[in-house]
Amino acid sequence: MFAKETYVQRRAQLKKNVGSGLLLFLGNEEQGLNYEDNAFRFRQDSTFLYYFGISAPSLAAVIDIDNDCEVIFGDELSIDYVVWMGVQPTLRDKSAQVGISDVRPSAQLADYLGNAVKSGQTIHYLPPYRAEHKLKLTEWLGLPASRQEGSVPFIRGVVAQRNFKTEEEIAEIERACNVTADMHIAAIKAVRAGKYEYEVAAEIERVAQMNGCQLSFPTIATINGQTLHNHYHGNLIKSGDLFLIDAGAELPSGYCGDMSSTTPADKCFTTRQREVYEIQNAMHIESVKALRPGIPYMEVYELSARVCVEGMKALGLMKGNAEDAVREGAHALFYPHGLGHMMGLDVHDMENLGEMWVGYDGQPKSTQFGRKSQRLAIPLQPGFVFTVEPGVYFIPELIDLWKSEKKFADFINYDKVEEYRYFGGIRNEEDYLVTADGARRLGKKIPLTPEEVEAIR
Ligand code: GLY
Ligand code: MN
Repeated sequence: MFAKETYVQRRAQLKKNVGSGLLLFLGNEEQGLNYEDNAFRFRQDSTFLYYFGISAPSLAAVIDIDNDCEVIFGDELSIDYVVWMGVQPTLRDKSAQVGISDVRPSAQLADYLGNAVKSGQTIHYLPPYRAEHKLKLTEWLGLPASRQEGSVPFIRGVVAQRNFKTEEEIAEIERACNVTADMHIAAIKAVRAGKYEYEVAAEIERVAQMNGCQLSFPTIATINGQTLHNHYHGNLIKSGDLFLIDAGAELPSGYCGDMSSTTPADKCFTTRQREVYEIQNAMHIESVKALRPGIPYMEVYELSARVCVEGMKALGLMKGNAEDAVREGAHALFYPHGLGHMMGLDVHDMENLGEMWVGYDGQPKSTQFGRKSQRLAIPLQPGFVFTVEPGVYFIPELIDLWKSEKKFADFINYDKVEEYRYFGGIRNEEDYLVTADGARRLGKKIPLTPEEVEAIR
């Protein structure tokens, strides 16, 4: 938790950003995994954390702009809770630490909102992403779940603040990135033929836990890196495999890191692995060189895609003009995801508010395969924190589909691609902050070039 003034100032700015109405914040609930008392790890909603700082279940809050009042709704712990789970500071004390003196029982929230509706106030709420929040909004506001789109002025007001990280936030993110880097370095060293993927995943989680952190998302640690979000860890690692790691730490404050790395199962890359790795590496390095205030991140994505096409042409897998190939989307056979996303209190920061508002400033996203997965398109500005994570993959099912459709036959040499059918995938990922005149990496360096990877194997 930051100092009280941080939260007071954030709320004051939000009131100015939205202007009028009542802002409703829904904190998260405990959620049963297989029965109610065996819950998933509790994670507070990030917008609630940003404005109210309290990581505890079953809270809600209201900023009533029209009546200039701020209220946290929640209940003090019962003696049963204290007996089973231990004593904690009171909700009133925690609220005071973030500058809120008006704390009311949860049961009063429905009436508060009902009176606001009756008096003609606009109730602003954010798009709900949990079922119980949808049920609450239906009960309180009479809105069916299918029409709970959220309030655009509220979304835009939040995004206008959370997109720009302050010094104290950057310090937290950098701590998360340092732990994340250590998780990757330990994992790269741990990969060996004859081990199971879960042994590497365990090493990643050990380093997170040893630093008092949680995982910021489910770990990817796989010999099947061509599956972009592969969470299966049951395979035996064999000599000749490539091993892809995508993992990050989350601090107790909620701030996140997110990095990816790729290592051979053996001490060194094979010639073919190194050739493809060099293409991915060039995509990464050229993207980082381009980072500066004012450049649209979509342009950096396009640059990384052109570097991919040029590399594939050099290997004989693609042909034709790289710019044309990228505009039409042919590169997406090998690079089917985006270059990166905002990062902060969420590993994909504010994705629940809608990428259109976070990364596209309200403009619609492309529907083209590959390009549609670019989560951040707008010009970079000082204070943005985001990932750079190009990748190169050989996905047999996608190759078969495109080949059968003769898709982009002017750009893709399918016969040559067949030779790489079981190659796997390569991704590297670092986290960057845009500064006044460029960008800087957050956190310790992880091995990025083939030489750097081999040096710690
Ligand atoms: N680290 C996983 C992702 O960015 O989607
Ligand atoms: Mn990422």
